[in-house]
Amino acid sequence: MGNISGKENYQLFLCNSGAEANENALKLASFYNGRKKVIAFSKAFHGRTSLAVAATDNPGIVAPVNETENITFLPFNDEQALINYFKEYGNEISAVIIEGIQGVGGINLARESFLQLIRKLCDEYNAVYIADGIQCGYGRSGRFFSHDYAGVNADIYSMAKGMGNGFPVGGILIAPHIQPKHLMLGTTFGGNHLACAAALAVLEVIEKEDLIKHAEESGSYLLNELKKVNYIENVRGKGLMIGFDVPDILKGLKKNLLTRHHIFTGESKPNVIRLLPPLNINKKEINQFLRALKKEIKFLVNQHKKSHQTVMA
Ligand SMILES: Cc1ncc(COP(=O)(O)O)c(C=O)c1O
Repeated sequence: MGNISGKENYQLFLCNSGAEANENALKLASFYNGRKKVIAFSKAFHGRTSLAVAATDNPGIVAPVNETENITFLPFNDEQALINYFKEYGNEISAVIIEGIQGVGGINLARESFLQLIRKLCDEYNAVYIADGIQCGYGRSGRFFSHDYAGVNADIYSMAKGMGNGFPVGGILIAPHIQPKHLMLGTTFGGNHLACAAALAVLEVIEKEDLIKHAEESGSYLLNELKKVNYIENVRGKGLMIGFDVPDILKGLKKNLLTRHHIFTGESKPNVIRLLPPLNINKKEINQFLRALKKEIKFLVNQHKKSHQTVMA
């Protein structure tokens, strides 16, 4: 299923949410190499619990109690900044945590060469590469993990969201060289029977319906069609994780899609619309979305022109 090659010997720890998964990933990395410093990236989102939120680049959701000097934010996709930081602090760095495709931050794709560089530097300095696959993982990108596009294996993968398809379950996949010891990981409800039944059912459906390949194919159809749509800008994404910029004249687009067409889209402030449809969306539904989108764009552009004319008159 998808590409899980090279990860067959990973161990799985089950928990209840994405933030809890990242929390444990970061803690485990620190247990592993005994270090404290963590590199995260601009616009990253890793959750709302204490360490996860400290690694999240959004001052609005980080309470003073969460602030820690152990986490440094480097510019996303900036290879030189990463090299320089490793040169200066390499032997103090515990982990690098990165989303292969930033979700909340606005559908920003990590360059493959950037992920390969993270792998290389983590190997060189014995730091832990943590791939946050909570939003971009589990097949959404057209690969099981979006990091697979770069041909690298992370040391720890965090997962949640799609894992239970709505049922709360999260987890981390842990590379064999990181051996959690007694008491390092634990939670009362992690791996409970109901959550496991849901997670197994999801994996069965992903496999039976070949949903990862479907995400890749239907996502590339949607992406290409969106690139032909006028007025929206910078269409980007992989698989069924797609975003585009909305210029000021299309203000209200998200709301109109919801109220007039019952299509719920995500957003990233200030001007990005995020699309994360179900992995089994079919072509008819994609076309229905595209028709609604074009109709609303036309409507908003006309409205804008009319109000402009009124001002001119
Ligand atoms: C990339 C990423 N990491 C972590 C989280 C946190 O997951 P949860 O809300 O399950 O704690 C999210 C949630 O949106 C996310 O998108």
